[in-house]
Amino acid sequence: SRKMDSIPRPELFDFHGVSMTHYFTDNWEDVQNLQARPDDILLVTYPKAGTTWVSNILDQLYFGLISPERQTSIPLYLRVPLLEIALPALQPEMDSFSRPELFDFHGVSITHYFTDNWENIQSFQAQPDDILIATYPKAVYVARNARDSMVSYFHYDRMNMIQPEPGDWSSYFHRFMEGKMVFGSWYDHVNGWWKKKQTYSKLHYMFYEDLIESRRKNELEALHRVHFDFMKKDDMVNHSAFSGMDFKVSSFIRKGKVGDWKNHFTVAQSEQFDEDYKEKMKDSTLQQKLKR
Ligand code: A3P
Repeated sequence: SRKMDSIPRPELFDFHGVSMTHYFTDNWEDVQNLQARPDDILLVTYPKAGTTWVSNILDQLYFGLISPERQTSIPLYLRVPLLEIALPALQPEMDSFSRPELFDFHGVSITHYFTDNWENIQSFQAQPDDILIATYPKAVYVARNARDSMVSYFHYDRMNMIQPEPGDWSSYFHRFMEGKMVFGSWYDHVNGWWKKKQTYSKLHYMFYEDLIESRRKNELEALHRVHFDFMKKDDMVNHSAFSGMDFKVSSFIRKGKVGDWKNHFTVAQSEQFDEDYKEKMKDSTLQQKLKR
């Protein structure tokens, strides 16, 4: 396997109107042609919305009783794959988990793709004869408040060499508002999928902050493997084996808090952000639902 430090960080480029890197566009055609099985579930997020947490929860709900050994023997990124990731040269484990196998996969899978980039969501529509299955959501969208998403993404980009160079906080802050992030604009992503929900009844739209609240009320108590402290130490989910991450810079399972933005935004940035946010979100009924 190649060492990450010898590989340059990727550049952002415009892909169908969305900022992307080649790591997430090389598999574009395969993902477009994917046909979900009737009982598959798709988890959709803008990066850093709590994808890893929710994928761990869904995987346990889906497979926990049938095969409890799954959680202790298979890394989460193989149990719940990110459909569009293309890292063959970097991850030997990914090589052995070849594309045909991936697309023969069933269970829960993830995408960060932007709505208009993926009409194939329809393949996750339940068939009329799937009476039982038709009552469950086929796709779950998780949204997280913009400010914490930005902070979380900043620390992630600092430590993950497969992401473009983040630069300093102040330039990152501006680029986030301009949508010059991998997977594009946070604003377009959360709004695009919110609109999708109005026409796609199988999409369950939820919020990271509500999950944190459920945790506070001990509603997730039974699933001890999804607790923040457990996940931070769990080598099956914390990416500790991934050579592309520099854990001296930041951890992958980092803080898991609501409101960490207060430790990063200056007062001036907070005001500037607010003004821009109101303008960008003004037409959206989502604005009232999202935490700030
Ligand atoms: P922070 O960087 O704010 O800590 P994603 O999985 O989409 O990349 O999201 C990562 C964010 O989810 C990180 O946020 C991470 O700490 C948080 N997270 C991961 N596991 C969690 C858990 N069990 N409970 C709460 N937050 C969690």
